[in-house]
Amino acid sequence: MPARKTIVAPSILACDFSRLEAEVARVSAAGADWIHCDVMDGHFVDNISFGPAIVEAASRGTGLPLDVHLMIERPDRYVPRFAKAAASITCHVEASHDVSKTLLAIREAGCLAGLAVSPPTPLEMIRPYLGRFDILLVMTVTPGFGGQPFMPEMLGKVSAAAAWRERDGLDFHIEVDGGITVQTAAMSVAAGADVLVAGTSVFKAGDTAAEIAALRAAR
Ligand code: DX5
Ligand code: ZN
Repeated sequence: MPARKTIVAPSILACDFSRLEAEVARVSAAGADWIHCDVMDGHFVDNISFGPAIVEAASRGTGLPLDVHLMIERPDRYVPRFAKAAASITCHVEASHDVSKTLLAIREAGCLAGLAVSPPTPLEMIRPYLGRFDILLVMTVTPGFGGQPFMPEMLGKVSAAAAWRERDGLDFHIEVDGGITVQTAAMSVAAGADVLVAGTSVFKAGDTAAEIAALRAAR
């Protein structure tokens, strides 16, 4: 299979929310591919971020695909509320829901379906769902907060997933999320990741366009 193009997805969790639309427009103009939206409910993770109204507001700042990452319990209940603005919706395998049904509902809503795996969860947990998702999101920090250090021990999941994908002739993105810098992006891409979520490194960069270009070129 030919090498996949690297997709850079800035996470708005690190943006200035008082200027949300302008912040989204700024990273879009600087070369972002997708805009990553981290939804947190204070139950599945120990933080509360935002819901569908903010995702819709973000969509007004860009024409780029919105990549919605649901760190919430019962994600199945909320899929319809995000589906209008989102291009992709990712739910966690650890959340309380029927994973297959949620993935199907996401696809039926016209979005790419993503499945996320938190650091303590073995990759084996997602094996039953191979073929039912379009994106595998490997968390490289504990979900809930931006600005944490990358966990290199998660790279084994990335390379194992890439091997499964190759072996079974499957077609899904492998997304890494948390602590992504040019250095950890290079490690992730080498292991088989093709979507790089980056909050702090993009939004706090002095030169946003240069940072996005460097992430995309990282090998
Ligand atoms: C963490 C979120 C990440 C986070 C990444 O729970 O899923 O998307 O925003 O932020 P950085 O890039 O700052 O680690
Ligand atoms: Zn995320």
